[in-house]
Amino acid sequence: MSTRLLSIWLVFVTAVMLMFATPALAGDAESGAKIFSANCAACHAGGRNVIDGAKTLQKDALEKYEMNSIEAITYQVVHGKNAMPAFQGRLSDAQIDDVATYVLSQSEKGW
Ligand code: HEC
Repeated sequence: MSTRLLSIWLVFVTAVMLMFATPALAGDAESGAKIFSANCAACHAGGRNVIDGAKTLQKDALEKYEMNSIEAITYQVVHGKNAMPAFQGRLSDAQIDDVATYVLSQSEKGW
């Protein structure tokens, strides 16, 4: 292969890789899944809410209560709300980011 063909090929491969390497969410949903089952599933298994049946983690409920963003979920996990405990000091910032990413992606998938 000539150098010229090779460089055209490399530009093409790089472009294709960039197209597929753009993550929509910042955190790591796979790690978030483990954090969720250890810390959240007691109340939120399967995206439900055993304490407050209206405030599930389903897409429509998250939209209704304006919880459908990484920022909103992160805030509530850090600070807690009513019967939901605060996780500040119990989970690291990175863990909270991962679990928020997981919750949001599961709500998109319908749990
Ligand atoms: C002891 C039970 C309990 C645990 C554990 C718990 N939650 Fe909650 N969660 C609640 C309750 C109760 C609410 C409703 C709070 C309110 O608005 O009054 C809630 C609400 C939420 C909401 C907003 C839902 C909506 O429709 O408005 C999110 C998102 C959420 N929790 C995520 C989490 C995550 C992530 C974890 C784990 C890090 C977690 N929760 C752990 C009880 C819990």
